[in-house]
This record gives sequence, structure tokens and C-alpha cells, in this order.
Amino acid sequence: MTDDFQSRVTAAMANPENMGELPNADAIGTVGNADCGDMLRVWVKFKEEGGRKVIDRASFQSFGCETAIAAASLAMELIKGKTAAEALAMRGEEFAKDLGPLPPTKVHCTSLVEGALREALAPVGSVPAPVASPATSAAPPTLMDAFNKPEQKKSGVKVVFLKPGEQPK
Ligand code: FES
Repeated sequence: MTDDFQSRVTAAMANPENMGELPNADAIGTVGNADCGDMLRVWVKFKEEGGRKVIDRASFQSFGCETAIAAASLAMELIKGKTAAEALAMRGEEFAKDLGPLPPTKVHCTSLVEGALREALAPVGSVPAPVASPATSAAPPTLMDAFNKPEQKKSGVKVVFLKPGEQPK
């Protein structure tokens, strides 16, 4: 990993934007990478603008590496004002272009961002999935719920929480 790349990721990580759950989101997408165990969820809210339905706000939450978080932070800004189709046309490397050339081992991190957006904006067919109103449904599952799904446990990914100051074994 180059120093340049690491310093750009560190700078993006120092002040990540659009992190956390977006209340009343119109669409939610969650993806995980079975190889590295990282997960990312995005929330998207639309608005009408000039007769088009465009992305008003987007946010993310991640159990992921620094590169995925930095790319997600950049992506949430880049998709504002775009239609779902325009956002879906973007690729992971576009989201992370401000980070510079990605080391080969980090290319999949931007794919995680692209995948979460794809899941939110076109989970089935090409129509963004509406989010049920809070009055008629329970809250969406958290990332922790996703980690605890039986199929996630079968993948061999094990989540271990460390106490403050504790080092991984
Ligand atoms: Fe898995 Fe970055 S190492 S998303």
C-alpha cells in the first residue's frame, strides 16, 4: 500500500461524512463480503427535483475496513442529486477516485459500496424498493442482526468484540 493512498484514506477517515442511520429512508441496502467479513449498509432518501426523482441524502454504516468507510463517505456525497439509474451506473472506482489508485487488495472495498447501493436502489428488478412505514413494520434489522444470521455463521465468519484496550488474539 502506498503512503499516498494511505494518507488519502486516513484524511477521508478523519472526517467521514454521512455516517449513521438515515431516519425515514426510502431505500436500504446491505451487503457483506464473505472473504474479509466486512459489511456495509446504506440508506437513501429521494426528493422530487425538476420533475425527476433524485437522491436527496444518503448515509452509511459499516463494519468494514478504512478503505470501505472512506469510499462510502465519498460515494454518499457523489450520488446526491442523481436519479437511482444514474447512481446505479456508477462503479466502485468512481466512488473512490479521490483516494487515488487503489492497491489490488483494496479494489473489493469499493465494490462493497457499489453493492450496497445496488442492493438499495435495485434489489429486485430496477425499481427502488419502498421502505414500509414504521407504523406497519418493525425496524429494519441492524448490521449485528445480519452478522447473526444463520447463513452468516455458516460462512465461517466469526465476530469477536473486544473490550476497550484489549488486543485481538
Ligand atoms: Fe474488506 Fe476492505 S478489506 S471491505
